[in-house]
Amino acid sequence: MGFIHILFVVACFRCTVSYVTIKIDADKVLQKLDDQMFLGTAFDTLLLKNHWENFNSSSRSVQTLGRALSPSYFRIGGTTADFMVFQDGDTMSSKSMENHFNKIQNFSQRPYGKSNYDTFNLTAQMFDQLYSFTSTVGWDMIYNLNALLRQKDGSWNPSNALKLFNYVTKKNYKIRGWELGNEPDLYGEIKVSPEQMAADFRHLVQILANYPQFKNCIIMGPSVAGGISYFKRFFEAGAAKVVTTASFHHYYFGTPNFKEFISPDMMDSLIERIAEFKSTANVLASEAEVWLAETSTDWTGGQAGWTDRYLAGFLWLDKLGLSAKYGLDVVLRQCFYGFHFSLINHEDLKPNPDYWLTLLYKNLVGGKVLSATTDDSTGKVRVYAHCINHVRSPQYKPGAMTVYIMNLNTQAIELYLPQAGQDEFDVYLLESVPAGAVFSRDVSLNGVTLVMPDEEHLPDLKPQRQTGYIKMPSLTMAFIVLPTANATLCFN
Ligand SMILES: *[C@@H]1O[C@H](CO)[C@@H](O)[C@H](O)[C@H]1NC(C)=O
Ligand SMILES: *[C@@H]1O[C@H](CO)[C@@H](O)[C@H](O)[C@H]1NC(C)=O
Ligand SMILES: *[C@@H]1O[C@H](CO)[C@@H](O)[C@H](O)[C@H]1NC(C)=O
Ligand SMILES: *[C@@H]1O[C@H](CO)[C@@H](O)[C@H](O)[C@H]1NC(C)=O
Repeated sequence: MGFIHILFVVACFRCTVSYVTIKIDADKVLQKLDDQMFLGTAFDTLLLKNHWENFNSSSRSVQTLGRALSPSYFRIGGTTADFMVFQDGDTMSSKSMENHFNKIQNFSQRPYGKSNYDTFNLTAQMFDQLYSFTSTVGWDMIYNLNALLRQKDGSWNPSNALKLFNYVTKKNYKIRGWELGNEPDLYGEIKVSPEQMAADFRHLVQILANYPQFKNCIIMGPSVAGGISYFKRFFEAGAAKVVTTASFHHYYFGTPNFKEFISPDMMDSLIERIAEFKSTANVLASEAEVWLAETSTDWTGGQAGWTDRYLAGFLWLDKLGLSAKYGLDVVLRQCFYGFHFSLINHEDLKPNPDYWLTLLYKNLVGGKVLSATTDDSTGKVRVYAHCINHVRSPQYKPGAMTVYIMNLNTQAIELYLPQAGQDEFDVYLLESVPAGAVFSRDVSLNGVTLVMPDEEHLPDLKPQRQTGYIKMPSLTMAFIVLPTANATLCFN
């Protein structure tokens, strides 16, 4: 028996060991999300403090990559946002602000290590560059204001925010939303209670009411990174009257470990977190959208050679799948550029594998979420189904569906989609280059390595049209479009 078993395993290393049937329930829409805006991106404010690092906002290829993801929400925020002081050229008047910063010492337990959390000046010129890039690529900016500028009585001091509002107004810049503070639940010994923060948001909204162009702005908070309690108390204190977007953050781990990148348990750990925030918001902020407003793999900023490689795609695609399935309105990927988990490479600004995954997701996956199940018993075939994204993929007929699948097994699988019947469907299979090299920076779509042909263009994202079984090698991801699904619920 043992001998035969070994032979079987060896013999089957290169062949298919299991067949998986995918069933889609097209009679029920689980969630209805925004086709265009569900998936957005971000910059960390640290990038501004660091004078853009290697980012080149006038690079044509960077602009091409950015534009392809438009429209998108684009959040500029993060820990450093609470240390940012806007300087419009006037000398800084408030000495008390600087005094306040001197008291901020014990931020060393925060993510991104022991770097110094000193105040930094955001010049008008830097804001101009940021805005210019944002409008060039066609994204909608959401800007994270400093919530640690405080009065003696502990309330928020809005004077620096006012400077920025006035500047933005003078320049006629379009800002889609404002956020006050980043992860206030982790401020450490500078305690800003959720009740105080709710009052600060009311103050912010009163101020914004004086600016007609901010009338329909998104107001996002409290952007917590820890447990539910701060979020709950914030909304219990009445924040829902002014906050349009209830936000929280999520990372999977601190130090990357190979197994965790492909672990179904790690992936599933997100479900509970989403459920907790969604159910709390449903009760206390039922009018608000719920956003995963800052998220990536690794809260220390990612690790070169891991979180910027093909391997990182599984957690990202699964996060998108679960977030949509459990009804989050928007997911903002930290970051477009910055650290080692960004969509474009930190050094050479070329797309990382997650860029292509993000682009395919935006193009093919629509806002209507359907239920998909498999007969796989290993738990290592993850599958999600949506209606097609008509807006971005008009080449497909109304009624088409998109299924996306991950094979986390060490063997290939063959998929069967009864819904397709005898009809042809389109497969977009993403594989590392070379195949099986999951730490690779290169990724292929149906065997063709994805590279920009020139600075102005992206490669054709060409599907493989086929019928019958779909072969998925070990550790691959695929989007499958059923063009003739003719699902009534997917018609518009
Ligand atoms: C940034 O991109 C522009 C346009 O492609 C180019 O002219 C410039 O040299 C780049 N700057 C750097 C520092 O690479
Ligand atoms: C910020 O700008 C003000 C006014 O120009 C200056 O006094 C202060 O030293 C600057 N702070 C930093 C950290 O550069
Ligand atoms: C920061 O934390 C250290 C160790 O926990 C403590 O000794 C120190 O007093 C704290 N700093 C301030 C400003 O409270
Ligand atoms: C699609 O479904 C509609 C009814 O839902 C039907 O009238 C139509 O004939 C179907 N089209 C195809 C191509 O099956």
